[in-house]
Amino acid sequence: MPAASPRRDLSHFRAIAYGGDYNPEQWPREVWREDVELMRSAGVNLVSVGIFSWAWLEPEPGRYETGWLDEVLDLLHAGGIGVNLATATASPPPWMAHLHPESLPIDRRGRVLGVGSRQQYCPHSTAYREGAARLVRMLAERYGSHPALALWHVNNEYGCHVHESFTPAAHAAWHAWLTSRYTTISALNDAWGTAFWSQRYGSFGEIPLPAAMPSFANPTMQLDWRRFSSWSIERLMRDEVAILREVTPDVPVNTNFMGFFEPLDYWSMAEAEDVVSDDNYQDPADPEAHIPSAARGDLMRSLRRGQPWILMEQTPSTVNWRQRNVTKAPGRMRLWSLQSVAHGADGIMFFQWRAARAGAERFHGAMVPHAGADSRVHREIVELGADLGRLAPVVGARVPADVGIVFDWDSWWAVGQSSHPSSDVTGREHEAWHRALFLRNVATDYVSTRHTADDLRAYKLVLVPNLYVITASFADALREYVAGGGHLVVGPFSAIVDEHLHIGLGGYPAALRDVLGIRIEEMEAMAAPNTVMVDGARLRCSAWHDVIELQGASALGTFADGWFAGDPAVTHHRVGAGSATYVGTVLDADGLDWLLSGACRAAGVAAPMEVPPGVEVAVRAGAGGRFVFLLNHTDAEVTVPTPQGAVEDLLGGPGATGPELTLGPAGVAVLRCRA
Ligand code: GAL
Repeated sequence: MPAASPRRDLSHFRAIAYGGDYNPEQWPREVWREDVELMRSAGVNLVSVGIFSWAWLEPEPGRYETGWLDEVLDLLHAGGIGVNLATATASPPPWMAHLHPESLPIDRRGRVLGVGSRQQYCPHSTAYREGAARLVRMLAERYGSHPALALWHVNNEYGCHVHESFTPAAHAAWHAWLTSRYTTISALNDAWGTAFWSQRYGSFGEIPLPAAMPSFANPTMQLDWRRFSSWSIERLMRDEVAILREVTPDVPVNTNFMGFFEPLDYWSMAEAEDVVSDDNYQDPADPEAHIPSAARGDLMRSLRRGQPWILMEQTPSTVNWRQRNVTKAPGRMRLWSLQSVAHGADGIMFFQWRAARAGAERFHGAMVPHAGADSRVHREIVELGADLGRLAPVVGARVPADVGIVFDWDSWWAVGQSSHPSSDVTGREHEAWHRALFLRNVATDYVSTRHTADDLRAYKLVLVPNLYVITASFADALREYVAGGGHLVVGPFSAIVDEHLHIGLGGYPAALRDVLGIRIEEMEAMAAPNTVMVDGARLRCSAWHDVIELQGASALGTFADGWFAGDPAVTHHRVGAGSATYVGTVLDADGLDWLLSGACRAAGVAAPMEVPPGVEVAVRAGAGGRFVFLLNHTDAEVTVPTPQGAVEDLLGGPGATGPELTLGPAGVAVLRCRA
């Protein structure tokens, strides 16, 4: 499991990292000096350099031009600004495709994705992999001891545009991967269930790339393809990390993630790096944008078991890639940035420092917009820099959480396949479950299926919104967790199949029947919305109906309508001091609030304090103290009680002086409290 090397995390920063992507190659030298001056006055202390510089650094194969980068790094260092130096492998130069056309990716429809935008490489291309390795080694050797170097930025948003490729090289790698996974073709035939539809393979060489087919593709083949595609990209990352670790063992490495990004298993990738980072582009047109943001922050923090992370990219104002690009109204950028800090970020960065004049992203917002430093956006950047400077005591503090939400890529990939009882269970159920807890200010971690029962014991409550695929070892971990007094809540279409997608027999969910105290005979898509009758309340439900037989559990709620009226919909099984609850349908938001607030009460989980709706309260705690973040996500002024033991508002507000404090629209207070 990721054990952070003491040298290779963010602890040496001692300040919240603040800055953004910096692309000096797009500007004449005079601008570089102005940039450094402006960065200094904005409190910027870290910039990401070189992300798309490969063509600039290696204008011809094997001829490196680094003079400009030497100059940029020296200038930044002289200005006291650290560098998150990119390995520049995110976009190979045009000469790569010209000399090695086979390095280009081929999509599922057989189209070659060519030069002219970015990320045009097949993850299996030898030319790309060798060229990238040479470039990374050159950069590590040249800049490894440069005093500005604070962090390595490996590639950029792996898989953003190309997460799978259908080239001959990919086909060969697919065969090799399958051979190493299954060893014999008969093991593969068994795992893939090829007795079905005459799919039996005589050798690994017969196995096609799973592109176009006449009808439903073999489920296990599809899942293996997703595993393979994620592994292929992770391998690129690990190749680069290995070179960086060899040449610069003391410099932390990171690559920027994209929240809940389906194609890549971030649990696995996060193990390969030292620091997690995320690119989060909330849509300001969405009044609830802060809610999924909170979940992303919780995931990022959880990927390396609570370790502080960096918000690597966000926009200060607008993006350019939605159909309608709404700007962040005054104060929103600050609010959402501080929300990330509240969820464990020790770095707040942007795409990008200076707005481009040319290229596809010239209408994208920046810390220095086209209007220049004399602009609302830049003034807010300067103010945010000052605020983050005041939050230095928070650096390194953790986010205590009593609830763990199980989230697993394998299961997400598989549950999203076709030919299931209903396509309304998608693997994204955790969003609604997280939302219900977020609205009650209950802190949540995400946990992976690699967690053991011991790991789970750190939580009073473990939620499984959906876990279609379950391994025997994780089923055991959940069982042991409940037997040891833990509280578990499981959602529909969970624990149905093993890692080969073979169904557990004898009644669903075979792997968890005993701990849940139920047996499901049938599962179906519910034809019409229904009602779950619970003690004193009626909850709306839809989409899914399990026919549940109680085998030790009791019914907490029953269906009101349909041929199954009166049957159990929500069940509860007491197991010693622990419990296991099951929901055999999809509850709406009020229903989830009922379910999860009840589960929290039973497990002894509570919010840190009561606040009015639209206000978020979150806690970080560490050597520097206990910090209560109060974030007003509404457009109105609100009054909230002053947290117990509050000593001062680190952001300079009068917060700690009375029994209540006032937050303006989008206002934030960060109260240092006595423990
Ligand atoms: C990210 C990417 C940046 C920039 C940004 C624009 O996906 O890493 O390079 O393109 O989006 O929003």
